Amino acid sequence: MIGETGTGDDPADGWFPESVAAGYDAPGGANAPEVVAPVVDVLEDLADGPVLEFAVGTGRIAIPLAARGVPVDGIELSRAMAERIASKPGGDAVEVTIGDMTKTRVAGEFSLVYLVFNTIGNVTTQDGQVDVFRNAAAHLRPGGLFLIEVGLPDLRRLPPGQDIVPFAMAPGYVGFDQYDVVTQQFTSNHVTVAPDGRGRFRRIPFRYAWPAEMDLMARIAGMRLKYRWADWDRSELTAESTKHVSVWERAPR
Ligand SMILES: C[S@@+](CC[C@H](N)C(=O)[O-])C[C@H]1O[C@@H](n2cnc3c(N)ncnc32)[C@H](O)[C@@H]1O
Repeated sequence: MIGETGTGDDPADGWFPESVAAGYDAPGGANAPEVVAPVVDVLEDLADGPVLEFAVGTGRIAIPLAARGVPVDGIELSRAMAERIASKPGGDAVEVTIGDMTKTRVAGEFSLVYLVFNTIGNVTTQDGQVDVFRNAAAHLRPGGLFLIEVGLPDLRRLPPGQDIVPFAMAPGYVGFDQYDVVTQQFTSNHVTVAPDGRGRFRRIPFRYAWPAEMDLMARIAGMRLKYRWADWDRSELTAESTKHVSVWERAPR
């Protein structure tokens, strides 16, 4: 069901097949140095030995972190995304295993497991998300840390009777999220119209969870909240925050 039809995409690559991977490293946006550097700063600071990135993608964060001397492993579902790592300068320093972060194990014990850029939401069941926390804990040494960066659901922008929150409107592009507040599912929708009038509609499913639910998932997995920030600048989470960066600690020995 996943992967766009008629593109030659491999369904095993999930929502990030070749047609998406090909444009993922476009300059600017999430790839801009001023976006990447604060993430790498925090991860380098928290790392105290080898680290593991769940859903490592094309190495947007893993490669610059490895360049600072931190040993980085990654797990990634999409072969199309992962294959780009080895072809980038410094990419050979990142050891990647193709697999599912809910269950794939890699050898070694890590000081930090991290999962950034909203990707916990790509696992669309509560059981699956708990499995991600369990799998993170299983890779951590006692006292090791699990970090998640994820947007907070925009439910405060939903008036009664409405389920859609637009987040982007630009020439040739409209983006909107559609929420089901009963099931905690939402879809992120991207409509792109090329100058020749040809259109493309991508609809990606997510599951949202409040920070408190994630704290319970962490407890189920034997971890406790250590830090919760509103962003990579370690600012305080407030009612106006649009995302959180949370760090849980596996119980020390
Ligand atoms: C938004 S990208 C983030 C990639 C990278 N972490 C970054 O920050 O650029 C999400 C990535 O998660 C991967 N992914 C989604 N579900 C996954 C799963 N269950 N196990 C492993 N990787 C997964 C996708 O294939 C995709 O490469």
